[in-house]
Amino acid sequence: MNIPKHIAIIMDGNGRWASGRSLPRIVGHQQGVKAVRTVVKACGAMGVKTLTLFAFSSENKNRSTEEVSLLFKLFLTVLKQEVKKLNKHNVRLKIIGDLSLFPEDVQKTAAEAQTLLDNNNGLTLVIAANYGGQWDIVQAARQAAQAALNGDIKPEDITIDSFSNYLSLANEPMVDLLIRSSGELRISNFLLWDVAYSEFYFTDTLWPDFDETELNKAIVSFNHRDRRFGARKEK
Ligand code: IPE
Ligand code: IPE
Ligand code: MG
Repeated sequence: MNIPKHIAIIMDGNGRWASGRSLPRIVGHQQGVKAVRTVVKACGAMGVKTLTLFAFSSENKNRSTEEVSLLFKLFLTVLKQEVKKLNKHNVRLKIIGDLSLFPEDVQKTAAEAQTLLDNNNGLTLVIAANYGGQWDIVQAARQAAQAALNGDIKPEDITIDSFSNYLSLANEPMVDLLIRSSGELRISNFLLWDVAYSEFYFTDTLWPDFDETELNKAIVSFNHRDRRFGARKEK
């Protein structure tokens, strides 16, 4: 079995999981955390190099203030709870996105967790929080423009390779497999640049029900893809 180096997941369907059971949406998000634990463990065990999880999009702040603040709280609790276990499992943590929106205690805990896990060399777990693919390209473009303005680079030095160094996922392999749960067939402003040649896998399963069996199904499907990257094998 060919294991993808980099798997990215749009963890969608928590709200529908909860409302299908007449429960508040936050219960769906709490159940979603269990699925995160399962997937992180499984990816680490099978030797995935990078796992990028879409936790909160730049558009999700437009939800009710109640849901947004409960999500921030949940994020903080989970970060605090899991960091020791992640360390034990040699997981490196990287949080990408515009964290300035987050309450200060969340920003502080996020920074501390990343520092603590920085020297680990097992799975790299990337959490995309207040992240948007468009935001990422714009912040990279700003850095490149500033470097040109400072005279550190010339505009013609900006190439696909050099530009990608300014993106949030610089140094991570390109995404091999992008998974979205809950039956929606869209990217919702998740990674844009990094999915240039990803294989896409969609499942109707709602995120809280996503487990190791679901992950394995996605990887089996990935193994049946003919990745041509625009070229053709000579006969
Ligand atoms: C995904 O679940 C989690 C977040 C976006 C934070 P949703 O909350 O989008 O669940 P649905 O799509 O409403 O079911
Ligand atoms: C995408 O899901 C964001 C996350 C899973 C974190 P949404 O539920 O926000 O996306 P839309 O609104 O259905 O496109
Ligand atoms: Mg959704």
